[in-house]
Amino acid sequence: MSKPGYAADQNPRILEGNDLKALAKYMKSDSCQNVFLMLGAGVSTSAGIPDFRSPGTGLYANLARLNLPFPEAVFEIGFFKKNPIPFYTLAKELYPGRFRPTHTHSFITLLHSHSLLHTCFTQNIDTLERRAGVPAHKIIEAHGSFATQRCIDCKTPFDADKIKKAVLSEEIEIPRCERRRCKGLVKPDIVFFGEGLPDQFHKSIRNLRKADLLIVLGTSLTVHPFASLVDLVPNDCPRVLINLDEVGDFNKPDDVLFLGKCDDIVRELCKELGWEEELDAAWEKTKDSLDADKQERELEPEPEESTEDEVEKITKNLEQALKVNDKNDEKQPSSKVSDVVQPELVE
Ligand code: OAD
Repeated sequence: MSKPGYAADQNPRILEGNDLKALAKYMKSDSCQNVFLMLGAGVSTSAGIPDFRSPGTGLYANLARLNLPFPEAVFEIGFFKKNPIPFYTLAKELYPGRFRPTHTHSFITLLHSHSLLHTCFTQNIDTLERRAGVPAHKIIEAHGSFATQRCIDCKTPFDADKIKKAVLSEEIEIPRCERRRCKGLVKPDIVFFGEGLPDQFHKSIRNLRKADLLIVLGTSLTVHPFASLVDLVPNDCPRVLINLDEVGDFNKPDDVLFLGKCDDIVRELCKELGWEEELDAAWEKTKDSLDADKQERELEPEPEESTEDEVEKITKNLEQALKVNDKNDEKQPSSKVSDVVQPELVE
């Protein structure tokens, strides 16, 4: 059934067309009240954070040449228990604070200020949604984030400043639980393959029934259960994919694909919505958060690096860490991610 009050008589579809103009018109109509977002690593690549699966620049392609049993092992809980060094090496490179939110992140704040944003589901651990100014209660970090951390054995929370110091220290320091009888490994509350997703994720997915619009941005939709959220919106809810390449299964009448860089497409959409100036103003504000972080970490302003440079640096550091580790440690058994994942987070 079409939504009342919007093109119901003339057209069984809710959107009047497959273009940004039609999408913007729907977003400005009374029928569109609850917008849900699903984000992946592609929304942060223009901030300089590599995604996972893009050929050439994706993290996994670059980690494949290293001495890991399989690239995803960096985020696999069984592997972490045996060898936390690769994760902590990567964590140092990816640690929040060095990266500025993108225009796409600022677009999310506009959805909120225009009272359209219901929930932003994100797979990203970079916290750039929060840094852009999206209120925390609107964000579900489905794969966790660097914001909190705990012992993987006794689950005792670990001090934020201490882990930050350990992660960012010159030599890799692996933080350990401070309870005398425990001394377990400490890990940021990032969901690893083989771990369950946060309660908040499970509680929030029922809200998708209220969706008037779902926008999926910058994800390959390969990791479940996150990828399955696209099927939980009502049948007549328009679903929009904004991505470099075609992914998932978007073939319902009101599914629309916009292929390209999400920052570019979001800007075009903002033009149609009459929000372009607001977008630039919102993005301008994100500069301050970066400056504060840089001062805190005593970093000199760095020349801008491309994603290729960034991923090369990350891989080199990881390579170095693994070589050091190899000297002290026995070789890890070889296995594939599919052998080790639990039902919760799977590819
Ligand atoms: P992927 O690397 O699998 O997919 C990123 C998608 O974004 C690809 O389809 C790219 O083509 C697209 N993309 C890249 N840059 C883009 C841009 N500027 N504009 C638009 N699209 C762009 O990343 P995710 O789908 O987020 O989990 O990966 C899902 C999960 O797999 C991650 O959360 C992570 C990983 O293993 C864990 O580590 C637990």
